[in-house]
Formats: sequence, C-alpha cells, structure tokens
Amino acid sequence: MLKVKLRDVEFKNPIITAAGTFGKGYELADSFDLSKLGGIIPKTITLKKRAGNPFPRLVETPCGLINSIGLENDGIESFVKNTYPVLKRLPVKIIASISGETIEEYVELLKILVLETDIEVFEINLSCPNVEKGGEEFSQDVEVLTDLLLKIRDVTERLLWAKLPPDVYGIIDRVRAVVSSGFDAVVLSNTYRATYVDVDKMSYSLAKEHGGLSGPAILPVSLYIVKEVKKAFPDFPVVASGGVFSVEDVVRYILVGAHLVEIGTMNFVKPEKVFTLPDELATYLHRKKKSLGEIRGYLIS
Ligand SMILES: Cc1cc2nc3c(=O)[nH]c(=O)nc-3n(C[C@H](O)[C@H](O)[C@H](O)COP(=O)(O)O)c2cc1C
Repeated sequence: MLKVKLRDVEFKNPIITAAGTFGKGYELADSFDLSKLGGIIPKTITLKKRAGNPFPRLVETPCGLINSIGLENDGIESFVKNTYPVLKRLPVKIIASISGETIEEYVELLKILVLETDIEVFEINLSCPNVEKGGEEFSQDVEVLTDLLLKIRDVTERLLWAKLPPDVYGIIDRVRAVVSSGFDAVVLSNTYRATYVDVDKMSYSLAKEHGGLSGPAILPVSLYIVKEVKKAFPDFPVVASGGVFSVEDVVRYILVGAHLVEIGTMNFVKPEKVFTLPDELATYLHRKKKSLGEIRGYLIS
C-alpha cells in the first residue's frame, strides 16, 4: 500500500532518513526496527577521511538548526571495509550518499561503490554548504553540473539521485540538467546557507561563521521548490528533504508530487518518530480513502 517504485527499485514506503542525520546508519539498529523505513542514507562518503570543520559547528536557533559539520566521515576505504558489511545485514534499503572535490573524485567513488557493494541507489551530494571544494560549487554552473552528471551517469545503470542546493530562482535550469543527464530523481533540497551570532560572546555562533539551516523553518521554502519543479517536470521523480517533523509534513510534500520524503533534523529531536511515520501515513490514507498514488501530486495541475 505504501510501496514506491523508482524504475526497477522498490521502496517499502516513502520514508527515508536523510544523510548526516542518522549516523553511519546502523547505530540505532538495536533500539528500533529499521525494517519500518523505506530506506536509510548514511553520512555522505568522501574519497579520503575528513575530520570536518572546527567546533562549534552546530547551533540551535529559535526556528531551526544550523550546522557546519563539513562532511566528517572515515572515507571510502573504511566505508567498504568496516561500515558496509554491517549495513548490508540490516533489514532496510541502503542509499549511499557521495561527495567529491572534483568530477574525477565523484566518478572514482561511484566506481568503487558499484564494484564493492550491492547498493542499488546512490545520492550524489552536490549541495553541501559547508565544504570549500565540491559540494554546492558544482551546482552553480549548469554546464559544469551537466558535465559532472553525464560522467557519473556513465559509471552505472543503478539508480542515481542528484541532491541539489536550495534555490528559489534558478532551480528549473539545474533540474533540467539532472533530467537530461538521465538521472532517476532529484533530491530537493539540502540546507540553506545561514549564520547566527552569540550576543554574549559578541561572535559568530559557529567557528566557520556560517553553515546550513535545517528544520521546520525551511519546510515552506523547500515545499515551494518541490512544487515549482513538479509543475515544470511533472513526470520526473522528486525526493523531498527539508523540515519534516510530522506525518502532515510528509503528506504536504507528497501532495505537491514527491515520491519519497527524507527526514533529517527531526531525528536529533525525536529519534523514535521516524519509525512511526509509515504507519501514520497509512492511517492518513485510510482516513482519506485514497491510495498513495492518488495523493501524489494531487495539488499539481
Ligand atoms: C547535522 C547535519 C548534518 C548533515 N549532513 C549531511 C550530509 O553529510 N550529506 C547531505 O547530503 N546532507 C546532509 N545534511 C542535510 C540533510 O540531509 C537534509 O537534507 C537537510 O538537513 C534538510 O532536511 P531537514 O530539515 O529534515 O533536516 C545534514 C544536515 C544536518 C542537520
């Protein structure tokens, strides 16, 4: 009833944990039933181990969280050797998120993962606001973006998602590049560039001065972006990400056309909640006497 199919890959339901907000993916395996979820996305993997940015790199504001973690992770070698063997035994679909500093790095990372793992879905992170190289930079120029996407697409036939930075104005051109490069879905969106100030210390709250805002504040903006993109590309699958804290928020994204919905910051606030969302969505559909397919894109005309 809640199943979602993207090409030949089936997701048990549309609820996916977002990269960077669910650790390496297995830490909660003993405390919660991971098989409840449509999928999990472990922390973005880079070619080399990254220590991330200096502390403090998280600040809570009255309307959301700002992070400047900077893609801290153990690198691809450790992922393949240590993390993946644990992940592959979990009763849940794994989606690998990758990020490179150059086009060649993205290609190399993906080649390694395709060779060494059975992972069926890859989220290409083109949107981290917290790294000097790579990340958002590749999405700035549509020509560079297209070149990168085509080279990535050449590596594998497995499912590819492009996770773009939030952009209220130029998003359609970027998504057109994703569609025309033969990707399978676009992920909208990552965090929004933001800063905060500690008044007592008279300094920025984050060592790196700024980071990415997530949580409830960004939902209406990301919802707008998903709506605009679905209006322009009604048949192209969108994976929504931004500010989901309730089943109503999940439904909001589905009503404007999202196939899948990622849950991020909520996992830090109420880690148990993501596991009840699939049943809550089923209850909503039952109450409305509608199928998931019937409500998906209901508001897009
Ligand atoms: C602490 C933190 C770390 C994150 N790390 C990553 C990451 O490694 N890769 C990535 O693509 N997105 C990362 N994100 C972005 C989330 O995956 C998500 O797209 C974003 O936070 C918006 O969703 P939310 O409001 O539900 O958190 C991170 C977000 C937070 C809050």
